Amino acid sequence: MGFIISKELDQFIEDNTTPQDEVLKALDRATHLHFMMPQMISGTVQGKFLEMLSCMAKPERILEIGTFTGYSTICFAKGLSENGKIITIDVNEELEDTARAYFEKAGLTNKIDFRIGNAMEIIPALDEVFDMVFIDADKINYTNYYDLVFPKLKVGGFILADNVLWSGKVVEDKKDKDTQALIDFSMKVQNDNRVENVMLSVRDGILLARKIKN
Ligand SMILES: C[S@@+](CC[C@H](N)C(=O)[O-])C[C@H]1O[C@@H](n2cnc3c(N)ncnc32)[C@H](O)[C@@H]1O
Repeated sequence: MGFIISKELDQFIEDNTTPQDEVLKALDRATHLHFMMPQMISGTVQGKFLEMLSCMAKPERILEIGTFTGYSTICFAKGLSENGKIITIDVNEELEDTARAYFEKAGLTNKIDFRIGNAMEIIPALDEVFDMVFIDADKINYTNYYDLVFPKLKVGGFILADNVLWSGKVVEDKKDKDTQALIDFSMKVQNDNRVENVMLSVRDGILLARKIKN
């Protein structure tokens, strides 16, 4: 992932953010050592930001679309209410052992329901009402995920979508399919009068939307 701000500023931001705990530090390291595209991991700053949002909202139910090695899952799980649960979905079964091992190390196994499979097929079958949804899987399906989760989101609940700046490609002239899909998604949210939304330049861009009506 390219930097949307200078490396120096990015470092300054990280230097002024609470460092990773030992489990997240080890997971970050293991992800960079053993997995393709380790840059997909949320990492120190975004992870702490997601944890803070979760701590503020104290959700009972979170849905995460795109687990990868489980870094953001652990961050969200830390803020859940006492009986809260996060359902996290990833299509890649090769991630399962690592993610589950770190959920265990973080002492959060009982709060995390990890499903392996295609989110487009799993979400319609979920019989839950969510307080918070994190969209962080295949960019081409962002608008589909939004449509699928919207009826399952509480009024007052939040949808967060990662990578909405796509290394700055959203404002470049030449647009590939993923870039166009992300622009279409952001426009859809912006034009949806059932939500209020704000786009944040945290890391690769996060779109935060709050559902105000059905
Ligand atoms: C950007 S990574 C997620 C990063 C993770 N949320 C974090 O912050 O550490 C995207 C993940 O989405 C998964 N994915 C892609 N298409 C998917 C689909 N259709 N259903 C479920 N997961 C999918 C990929 O396997 C990949 O692990």
